[in-house]
Amino acid sequence: MNFKIALIRGDGIGPEVVGEAVKVMEAVGKKFGHSFSFEDVLMGGCAIDAVGKSYPEGTAEKCKACDAVLLGAVGGPKWGHASDPEKRPETALLSIRKDLGLYANLRPAALRPALADACPLKKETAEKGIDLMMVRELTGGIYFGKRERYQTEDRGEEASDRMAYSQMEIERIGRRAFELARLRRHKVSSVDKANVLETSRLWRSIMHRLSEEYSDVEYEDVLVDNAAMQLVKDPSQFDVVVTENMFGDILSDEASMVTGSIGLLPSASIGDTAPGLYEPIHGSAPDIAGQDKANPIATILSVGMMFRYSFHLPHEADAIEQAVDAVLAEGWRTQDIAKSGEQTIGTVQMGELIRRKL
Ligand code: NAD
Ligand code: IPM
Ligand code: MN
Repeated sequence: MNFKIALIRGDGIGPEVVGEAVKVMEAVGKKFGHSFSFEDVLMGGCAIDAVGKSYPEGTAEKCKACDAVLLGAVGGPKWGHASDPEKRPETALLSIRKDLGLYANLRPAALRPALADACPLKKETAEKGIDLMMVRELTGGIYFGKRERYQTEDRGEEASDRMAYSQMEIERIGRRAFELARLRRHKVSSVDKANVLETSRLWRSIMHRLSEEYSDVEYEDVLVDNAAMQLVKDPSQFDVVVTENMFGDILSDEASMVTGSIGLLPSASIGDTAPGLYEPIHGSAPDIAGQDKANPIATILSVGMMFRYSFHLPHEADAIEQAVDAVLAEGWRTQDIAKSGEQTIGTVQMGELIRRKL
């Protein structure tokens, strides 16, 4: 098969990790008889520098003409928090998610066997294992509500961000979560703040209705503050965790750290139509950019998710995961997952070692 892939390398460590992931894709292609054509798509801070806006015209159309999109990361201190949204790299990320209809963001957090000692939790907690799938709603909620900033008469400046969710938005992400649970350990934990937020009360009532439809799946409600605590107390209790956009953003960074490092966690953003978008959950890591220090594993595993969810090629996906595990089992570590004093390798060498295992 020949696949056309849009590459949004982006900013900071984005180009470094995407570079390694592309080489892994090519190695998989060679082994399994697939070929790829890549199209670079300019987006993020680099696009502001090149053409004056983070989301140049035609960005979504270029991606839609491809079978899948691979994204590194966008943003960085260079671009700050400009008041003009076109001059903010992160605006582009929200736009591409919206324009491609990518409402379901799958963020699997699993403790890889060789990294048990990179887990910062108690040994007996880590030994229970971690293998959860965070299902984050990605195109609604406070990220996409009306934003305002205005002067009041007596309280100085004021700002507001509106959070809204419709029945349709909650139902479709809920169904994704229950369907995924059926392929896993048959448990859904729905995270909300129904003791305070109206959006959460709507969310919860719809999830309850769905849970009756999916009666073969165990279901629970967890308040978001408790969920944050349970994730470090005993993450083994979770299978599929479904939640709204901002809670999912925060909880997935937390989940990444309990599995060792944010440099390990991939993600798939999918909607009802192709293409899906695949990206590590981490950002552009300006503190280590350009130093060959970034861990490319999150992006390489994102390519694995691309094979699994966009191309329906599970053997290719398994091969990538096994190659990553084999390299980790041999003790190779980038700086983010190394113990203090342990010898480390760089981005390029990690990519190369994984490729050689394929
Ligand atoms: P970050 O994820 O970029 O970095 C947080 C910390 O994790 C840093 O110490 C960094 O060095 C480390 N880290 C991240 N990825 C790593 C990797 N692959 N290997 C080793 N260490 C890694 O988060 P931040 O610093 O809050 O954000 C930096 C910029 O990235 C901001 O502009 C933010 O908006 C943007 N961002 C973009 C995306 C995206 O494009 N999807 C995601 C998150 C943040
Ligand atoms: C992520 C990022 C983005 C988000 C930012 C950069 C807009 O943190 O992909 O997790 O909050 O969704
Ligand atoms: Mn995030």
